[in-house]
Amino acid sequence: MISVAFFNNKGGVGKTSLVYHTAWMFAELGYRVLAVDLDPQSNLSIMALDEERLEALWSDDAHPDTLFGAVEPLFGGTGDIRQAHIEPFSDALGLIVGDLALSRIEDDLSTEWPRCLEAKERAFRVTTAFWRVMNEAARRHRADVVLIDVGPNLGAINRAALVAASHVVVPVAPDLFSLQGLKNLGPTLRRWRETWLQAKPKASGSLGEQPGGAMTPVGYVLMQHAERLGRPTKAYAKWQARLPNAYRESVLGEAAEESIPTPDSRQIQRIKHYRSLMPMAMESRKPMFALRASDGAIGAHQANVQQCHDDFKSLVLEIAERVGISRGATQ
Ligand SMILES: Nc1ncnc2c1ncn2[C@@H]1O[C@H](COP(=O)(O)OP(=O)(O)OP(=O)(O)O)[C@@H](O)[C@H]1O
Ligand SMILES: [Mg+2]
Repeated sequence: MISVAFFNNKGGVGKTSLVYHTAWMFAELGYRVLAVDLDPQSNLSIMALDEERLEALWSDDAHPDTLFGAVEPLFGGTGDIRQAHIEPFSDALGLIVGDLALSRIEDDLSTEWPRCLEAKERAFRVTTAFWRVMNEAARRHRADVVLIDVGPNLGAINRAALVAASHVVVPVAPDLFSLQGLKNLGPTLRRWRETWLQAKPKASGSLGEQPGGAMTPVGYVLMQHAERLGRPTKAYAKWQARLPNAYRESVLGEAAEESIPTPDSRQIQRIKHYRSLMPMAMESRKPMFALRASDGAIGAHQANVQQCHDDFKSLVLEIAERVGISRGATQ
């Protein structure tokens, strides 16, 4: 299973928007896609679904059709995981819906993680619950790629989400806070990966296949929407210039390089601030690059829609290439 988590513990860098647009673009390019909303804040689900549908999925009773519903028997102590409902958007694109109730399992995930090193069976069941749910759903959906959205923290839900990720894409904004964020993110990712690699061989054979936990860094996406209007471009240029080495040192654990040719090979793509296209897209519940005149994308907006389409197409083709699912000449 190729599963890509979009991860940065800094909030608001554009993780959810990236997962949403990337998912639709992968589907447009002929891939079968499973998107997974692992953020209890569920912004990806809110972006993708209308309120009526969300109200039905998040009714007061049990939430059988959300990700929480799929793991609930395990965490509630009544059994193991069950098949997740896949919310269909097109034949090729489906979503495992997020749920605020996921935050209820964070403590359990936290307690069980170190017990994997003691070879405890429940610890493995709990730690790999998300991976097992995704893996089964990806097979059923015949997904070429699974895209995972997570919340902005280094907590136990995210650790389990990352154990389920074969790859990691890091969205970053060109500012001090984002660079500081990388300093926490990189070492934490490496620690999670190392701990899982130590724990994995201790899993009893009866538990079946275990996640690889590779979390291979694919690269970073420079998100420019976070640049504040009125702040001198110079300020962003300074942070942007530091990004290539900050990523190498913090995320890859490599030494800084003297001079890095531009564009940096570790940068997958730069995503512009598309300004009013985003609210239009939210309103129409479609990606910015699919907006039509009937959605309000008239006049100068049309050129922006085209530019946005080109940017996301390049982003997705590059991710596909880097994670090894490129279809090369067929596109
Ligand atoms: N390319 C863009 N152009 C314009 N606005 C954008 C762009 N990308 C993201 N935004 C806006 O920036 C805000 C933050 O984006 P988003 O919710 O995707 O970030 P996030 O990293 O998922 O946040 P959180 O850490 O809270 O999960 C949102 O209001 C979103 O609409
Ligand atoms: Mg988000």
